[in-house]
Amino acid sequence: MKKFNTIYRHIVEEERKFPEATGQLSDLLADIALACKMISLEVNRAGLIDILGMTGDTNIQGEEVKKLDVYANELLTNMMKQGGHICAICSEEEENFIPIEDKYTDNKYVTNKYICHFDPLDGSSNIDVNVSIGTIFSVYKRVSDHGPGEMMDCLQKGDAQVAAGYAIYGSSTVLVYTSGRGVHAFTLDPTAGEFLLSNENIKIPKKSKIYSVNEGNYNKWSNGMKNYIAHLKEPDEDSGRPFSSRYIGSLVADFHRNLLYGGIFLYPADSKNQSGKLRLMYEANPLSMIVEQAGGRSSDGSKRILEIEPTALHQRTPLFIGSEDDVILLEKYLSEDK
Ligand code: AHG
Ligand code: MN
Ligand code: MN
Repeated sequence: MKKFNTIYRHIVEEERKFPEATGQLSDLLADIALACKMISLEVNRAGLIDILGMTGDTNIQGEEVKKLDVYANELLTNMMKQGGHICAICSEEEENFIPIEDKYTDNKYVTNKYICHFDPLDGSSNIDVNVSIGTIFSVYKRVSDHGPGEMMDCLQKGDAQVAAGYAIYGSSTVLVYTSGRGVHAFTLDPTAGEFLLSNENIKIPKKSKIYSVNEGNYNKWSNGMKNYIAHLKEPDEDSGRPFSSRYIGSLVADFHRNLLYGGIFLYPADSKNQSGKLRLMYEANPLSMIVEQAGGRSSDGSKRILEIEPTALHQRTPLFIGSEDDVILLEKYLSEDK
């Protein structure tokens, strides 16, 4: 019989492994899980809004109907503000970070000692065509000592993350997180309204047979990148080639499949996007913490993503992430470009 556990109990069990823990990170992760549950409900309803005549700006209840990414952003922001555990929120949907006062100064169990980065809705180009989308989050301890958060709290390298995760809203809603001791997945049981443990201590296969890249950008790639993809397509049974090409266009969905089956996801810099397309703080860093905790590798083509010293909230980076052996070989091919 599979071990029955909810995400809330799992988070608390993880916390109990640290006697000095105050439970704040557990509360924060529980708040994020609740927000993802509520976003999941809205995502699943989204297709109905037009059909049920709830179109335009207000629906039959007189509520304002929002675009899903605006809805997800506002929900996460409000929940984080109320929770009291963070001093700043950084979001793909906000130009600047949102500093947050320490709301509960008389409560030592609620001090705003964390900061969060969010991609509230990843894969937004897929929202209207019923393809999986997701939410990505990244959590750090603050570095400034008190009061509302500052830019130095928001611009920390990925190695400093204390937790990271994502929700994927697909055929089912799955929440995957790590707090530094393995990667664990929970599937939402919509009737119970609980995230139930579905996959504990996930490990990504060291070698794979799947690559994910937008081949439409081929003509903008470097020679090293072109030669690597050509290598994957050559028939060679011993090394499991040709690879299969799988590209959903939602980073979270492509990443989640590769995490479970093995695979390499590639979004290189190219002649148009000199620094790549994906964002370091709320896409590359959180997924890189997860993939390294699962025994995989994540690089910008020459160094670990988690070592990059950030200089801007929305800075972009090339991203090569997934099965360790595949990313190492990719880095060898890209070294030809030097
Ligand atoms: P977002 O919807 O948060 O802007 O992210 C979209 C990203 C990512 O989800 C996906 O991997 C990538 O855009 C797809 O880019 P292309 O359409 O250029 O392939
Ligand atoms: Mn995204
Ligand atoms: Mn997004």
